[in-house]
Amino acid sequence: MNAASAAAATEAARRRTFAVISHPDAGKSTLTEALALHARAITEAGAVHGKSGRRGVASDWMEMEKARGISVTSAVLQFEHQECVLNLLDTPGHADFSEDTYRVLAAVDCAVMLIDAAKGLEEQTRKLFDVCRHRGIPVITFINKWDRPGREALELLDEIESEFRLKPTPVTWPVGEAGYLSGLIDARRPERMLRYTRTPGGAQAATEEVLSAEQAALDQGVDWERATEELELLQADGAEYDEESFLAGKSTPVFFGAAVSNIGVRLLLDAVVELAPAPGARELEGGGERAVDAPFSGLVFKVQANMDPSHRDRTAFLRVCSGVFERGSTVTRAVNGKPFATKYANSVFGQDRSSVDIAYPGDVVGLGNAGALRVGDTLYAGTPAVFPPMPTFAPEHFAVVRPADIGRSKQFRRGIAQLDEEGVVQVLVSDLRGDQAPVLAAVGPMQFDVVSHRMENEFSAPVRLEMLPYHLARATDAAGAEGLGRSRIIRGEVLTRVRDKELLAVFPDRWQAASFERAFPDARLDPLLAAHE
Ligand code: G4P
Repeated sequence: MNAASAAAATEAARRRTFAVISHPDAGKSTLTEALALHARAITEAGAVHGKSGRRGVASDWMEMEKARGISVTSAVLQFEHQECVLNLLDTPGHADFSEDTYRVLAAVDCAVMLIDAAKGLEEQTRKLFDVCRHRGIPVITFINKWDRPGREALELLDEIESEFRLKPTPVTWPVGEAGYLSGLIDARRPERMLRYTRTPGGAQAATEEVLSAEQAALDQGVDWERATEELELLQADGAEYDEESFLAGKSTPVFFGAAVSNIGVRLLLDAVVELAPAPGARELEGGGERAVDAPFSGLVFKVQANMDPSHRDRTAFLRVCSGVFERGSTVTRAVNGKPFATKYANSVFGQDRSSVDIAYPGDVVGLGNAGALRVGDTLYAGTPAVFPPMPTFAPEHFAVVRPADIGRSKQFRRGIAQLDEEGVVQVLVSDLRGDQAPVLAAVGPMQFDVVSHRMENEFSAPVRLEMLPYHLARATDAAGAEGLGRSRIIRGEVLTRVRDKELLAVFPDRWQAASFERAFPDARLDPLLAAHE
């Protein structure tokens, strides 16, 4: 083993790369800040997301997101805890950007599923969990806002088990029902209780003290009795943490707390270090895998333009999968075998754009000057590697886009091409409509707002959008295109997706798709990966 592969193996073993998934408002920003503050990565709460006018990731078009209180872009936070390096990747909070979320989840090894104690599982939690299951990502659960009235702990566990077919294994258990939290029991150390005292107003971190079981029984009375009984009940039911089933995505360790008062946050952070898997060998397209100590390889999971308004360029977010990434080295782009110079490698933490000279498996690097790179690209050094392509979601909303000012056609074409490459929307074309009127396809309609805003502000090419009455897309072939072109009865059309030349048959509803299937039994008509099931 040479020095580089030894370093890659050692550093990979102390990396934990994860994301927090939740429904909007469950407390993701609050938890992210609390985690980072705990690990002392940032000194000022609010440095991460730029909510409510706080300092944040700078980009002019992100003003729109801020105004709407959503976060479309991903920042990556890196901090140390207990000798480990934690990489926390942010995911967009809004359901309309599930494609982006999917891509981010392709770059993590574990997810923390955040649940609001009063609301339980919500729509977006379900969708994001589906993505984790699909990718085989182990999930740690954090039940948040226990400082407020909410549902029963056992009822919430039942919901996780019955809806997600995921065995909840509590690692911490609350003393006091939601709204009356006095402390937590660590299931692995039930002989003591961690008591939290919040300061009036609640904005500050609660103080933590350790009580013996005897003291807890004296001070907390029935709450302690009930908590220990519930925990015993759960343990008798086999709800103890089990590494094998957790890593296989069959069980989830559960934590309780209140991110806003910092309750339970340290225990969660410890759990990420102790329980979340370190980066491991990664599957390759066409079989085999790339070990972490193999020569450098990395996966581009996100491409984003104009993160820095004073310097318009494109940044590719690269997750290092194996070996050592060294800034300044020249690596190979797998898709065409061409060299790529890594001179402009930056950290992607909030506003900080300092250079990254070296990175290890699990780390994320922002590659500037990345005009040539696309989402899903593999970069490697030494032995070639190609990671499986990133799946594209089935679009459910379609709109014809045209330049509002015909004199700006050049800018229009350039802008649409760039947004397509970044994966902001899918761009479809047909001979019938011509290239001055491509069709935009989106999983969520808010993607169109991003297109309109960016076309006007970045490319000075305002657009007009005309919604099309289609809501369903299927992959088809030349026979399908020919048939649908001829049919006078079936409502729908066939368009070519620019990104991968896939032919998509689009229909208003599944009834039209079914008539198509009956009329053209020899044509291909395959479902695409569904974002909304
Ligand atoms: P998000 O990123 O998931 O959308 O959620 P965010 O952290 O912005 O939190 C949403 C709201 O929930 C915020 O209140 C936040 O303070 C609150 N919150 C987060 N964690 C906890 C918790 O543990 N307990 C309680 N009681 N509240 C919590 P807000 O009123 O919308 O905003 P703010 O003015 O308080 O920032």
